[in-house]
Amino acid sequence: MATPEQQKFATQIDANQQALIARLAEAVAIPSVSGDARYRKACFDMADWLLASLTKLGAKGELRPLGKQNLEGQQIELPPVILADYGNDPKKKTILVYGHYDVQPALKSDGWEHEPFKLTFDEKSGRMYGRGSTDDKGPILGWINVIEAHQQVGVDLPVNLKICFEGMEESGSVGLDDLVEKEKDAFFKGIDAICISDNYWLGTKKPCLTHGLRGIQYFKLAINGPGADLHSGVFGGVVHEPMTDLFAIMSKLVTPQGKILIPGINELVAPLTDEEKKRYDVMEFQISDIDEATGSQTAISDEKQQVLMGRMRYPSLSLHGIEGAFSEPGTKTVIPSRVVGKFSVRLVPDMTPEKVVEVVEKYINEEWKKLGSKNTMRLDAEPGGKPWLADPNHYNYRAASKATETVYGVKPDLTREGGSIPVSLTFSEILGKNLLLLPMGRSNDGAHSINEKLDISNYIKGTQLLGLYLHEVANAA
Ligand code: BES
Ligand code: ZN
Repeated sequence: MATPEQQKFATQIDANQQALIARLAEAVAIPSVSGDARYRKACFDMADWLLASLTKLGAKGELRPLGKQNLEGQQIELPPVILADYGNDPKKKTILVYGHYDVQPALKSDGWEHEPFKLTFDEKSGRMYGRGSTDDKGPILGWINVIEAHQQVGVDLPVNLKICFEGMEESGSVGLDDLVEKEKDAFFKGIDAICISDNYWLGTKKPCLTHGLRGIQYFKLAINGPGADLHSGVFGGVVHEPMTDLFAIMSKLVTPQGKILIPGINELVAPLTDEEKKRYDVMEFQISDIDEATGSQTAISDEKQQVLMGRMRYPSLSLHGIEGAFSEPGTKTVIPSRVVGKFSVRLVPDMTPEKVVEVVEKYINEEWKKLGSKNTMRLDAEPGGKPWLADPNHYNYRAASKATETVYGVKPDLTREGGSIPVSLTFSEILGKNLLLLPMGRSNDGAHSINEKLDISNYIKGTQLLGLYLHEVANAA
């Protein structure tokens, strides 16, 4: 049951819906793609826009520079982190909220129905389409909406907020770990609990709370051969071809059934306990949720438990792409001279990026030797992210569960997720506080895909949920 103050806040969010949607439209229009140097200025614009919104509401914040990075051979300035305080009443709890303002790349020509950086409405379904709508601009604006609505109805925010919005999450959160370490006894001091809204419901109907994420280790496997691209009529059958070498190695990493073939990887996985196994039974989920989210019927298994465990508690290896391969339409008869294969492993407890790099390097070196190729091979491991698992028997989760029941009228499922948010483990370890993932969007939102969307109802109710969570956590013990 909501208190009168909570009710006032929630009613204001409903009443102010149009303005909140306009705010999201403004944010989506700034193409803050962190992975492409051409959009770096937009990342800075997005950070300025957010800081201005927070400052206008009376938050005390700043943009923290993180130094430079090397992107596509260029040294460029990293997008800044926004650190802001809202309230500093020693009698109140202090909650750290985190989200990211950078987004995945998006081009209309990728197959989007509308311009990706223009929030577009489908009145009938109540959906708002646009890059970043669900991942993660809707959720970060949720926090701003919460502060604003409290002011509008004259209700005091029941906690102090520390706000951390970063602009490199989609590109591995470069520089953020160092900042957290540096600021642990300064900006991050005095935090009681942490809340991140950057994940999704398991399906499309029932909300959830998430207490685990997989980590990630990304690899680039470069094969260098001839000094230039060659004519396959003249040199086919004559030289060792880089792409053939690359396919030979990449085909030995994982089976079409998803089994990782690298010796030593599966042994790193924490064993499944009976108690954990039962959790997958009670989660509200059907194979059709996967079908809907993928727009296909391509799930590896038909068994609910298997599918859930494949996403939440086992590692996976995905092949992402090949730089340098001929990928245009037409039938160019080329032998590419250099190709770079990209793949990544999603990590679960007790895997660490270091151990995974070690076994992958050993295996690929052995397999490379077996090829007997005269080309050269180089394997690069990108900075990795460890998996994260939190204790859901904490007041932080009880508060979020209560708030979910008030807003949605159901008890949320307790899930783990397959994606990664690199800073989640950093926060938990360095700050030593409980962390909760409280999602706004649904499983079929299409994060990272074409036609990414957020349902208006998820944006509005999701904002109410963030606000009511703050009310519940303020008094929880
Ligand atoms: N919002 C996702 C994380 C996520 C994905 C949570 C799926 C729950 C389910 C986040 O923005 C993301 O995509 N992270 C990257 C991190 C990577 C670049 C280190 C990811 O998981 O690929
Ligand atoms: Zn995200």
